[in-house]
Amino acid sequence: MPCIKRSAWFLAVLFILGAVSLYFSAFLVRAQEEIDQEKLDRGARLYQENCAVCHGPDGEGRVGATLARNWPSIRPDLTVQNTIENGIPGTAMPPWSQANGGPLSEDQIDDLVYFILSWQTGGAPAVEAGPSPTRRPTLEPIPEVSGDPNNGAVLYDANCVVCHGVNGEGRIGATLERNWPSIRPDLSVRNVIMNGVAGSPMPAWSQANGGPLTDQEIDDLTAFILTLEAANGAPQSGEQQTALPVQPGVSWAIWVGALILVILVGVLFSSRNR
Ligand code: HEC
Ligand code: HEC
Repeated sequence: MPCIKRSAWFLAVLFILGAVSLYFSAFLVRAQEEIDQEKLDRGARLYQENCAVCHGPDGEGRVGATLARNWPSIRPDLTVQNTIENGIPGTAMPPWSQANGGPLSEDQIDDLVYFILSWQTGGAPAVEAGPSPTRRPTLEPIPEVSGDPNNGAVLYDANCVVCHGVNGEGRIGATLERNWPSIRPDLSVRNVIMNGVAGSPMPAWSQANGGPLTDQEIDDLTAFILTLEAANGAPQSGEQQTALPVQPGVSWAIWVGALILVILVGVLFSSRNR
């Protein structure tokens, strides 16, 4: 009977459409979750690279304010975004948006806001992203300079990269990967690190000037910075592997799809045999 056959086909097409849409919606849900996780990862990385130096690796505050806190505001996202974009004039907090001459795009600031607000729960940050380790070759001390450049490199990564770039290529701060036209470059570099540059964002680092570094540490930093000029084996920015957990979404969708197909075939057969 053609009438039954047609309705069986109609059912079959419905089932196929249903199965296909279920399959793809499972993919969409999965993609949605992944984007959030990736956003958090990106924000965490940007934070470690740019903000941890002043705000502490866990937002606990250091030179900068505590960020791991609740924001009593109706739109905390807008408050935080605004501060990051414009900085806080008259304080060490620089403006970060490209519109204000900073290094970060709107998308990057968006990721940062997302990451910082993930602290609002008061618990541990949702993502543990350590600072990207910088792989640097072992450096030979420069004969007439007293500091240890390898220890200097560690100090540099912790305190200076944010403004001067991984390879001293310059960012908010000046280019350090250059020749120092001075008879005793070690003394002039050391002097700037100890005293900072008045009227610029370059802070004074020596304890004598209220900074956090000892004289020995400043010697080490000086020795490291002077190796940048020779560029003996340009150091590379370390890659950070962020292992994203495997999502169960796909295999789940495949199983449901397969089950629906089996039912479909069953329905087709029974309607044919009738
Ligand atoms: C050179 C140091 C420094 C760096 C680097 C820095 N900040 Fe700040 N930040 C500060 C200081 C200092 C304050 C507090 C200013 C004040 O109100 O006295 C501050 C304040 C803030 C505030 C407002 C806190 C509040 O309680 O209202 C936010 C948000 C913030 N910073 C985010 C960031 C982000 C995001 C980054 C990285 C892109 C960053 N900061 C990098 C020094 C820094
Ligand atoms: C908040 C940003 C910032 C941080 C952090 C920072 N610097 Fe600077 N630094 C600057 C700026 C900006 C200048 C350029 C100042 C000027 O001459 O106007 C500068 C200049 C210098 C110079 C002189 C460069 C030249 O051409 O004369 C040296 C050396 C230097 N910084 C070393 C360091 C070291 C070492 C650290 C880490 C302990 C550090 N800086 C951290 C912003 C920064």
